[in-house]
Amino acid sequence: MERTLAIIKPDAIKHADDILYAIEAAGFTIIDKKRIQLTVDQARDFYVEHAGKPFYQPLTAFMSSGPVMVMILSRADAITAWRTLLGPTNSNAARESAPSSIRARFGTDGQRNACHGSDSPKSADREIRFFFPNGFSPAHL
Ligand code: TYD
Ligand code: MG
Repeated sequence: MERTLAIIKPDAIKHADDILYAIEAAGFTIIDKKRIQLTVDQARDFYVEHAGKPFYQPLTAFMSSGPVMVMILSRADAITAWRTLLGPTNSNAARESAPSSIRARFGTDGQRNACHGSDSPKSADREIRFFFPNGFSPAHL
């Protein structure tokens, strides 16, 4: 089993129930989850790989604009499987090429694209530690 970090972004928090259903229907186990609101500084730190790009400032403002749900997902090949379920980064492109994907169904455009997924084992490890520094705590689920 592999783990990845998923985030339901502020634009899609209203669809959290449908997204959680799609996650479980695709065979993922939700190891831990919490609903939080990021500060701008946390959003900047989380997306530091994109610092300096033109979309970085609006992205970090958006990601700190409302509550998000951060989750650790587990499944065989979880990192790739979750990104496949997400579809392309831009929700408009996703509606063309992957209409049943989460970004097609619940996202809006190239920024407000419903959910995040780690892109490699290294980033999954970093991102899980970023949000769950003390390890996961399944007792409350
Ligand atoms: P990126 O890591 O390239 O995409 P992904 O989330 O699919 O790994 O970009 C991070 C987020 O930044 C992306 O989910 C949405 C936002 N973004 C923009 O707002 N504009 C852009 O042109 C790109 C490439 C991304
Ligand atoms: Mg990325």
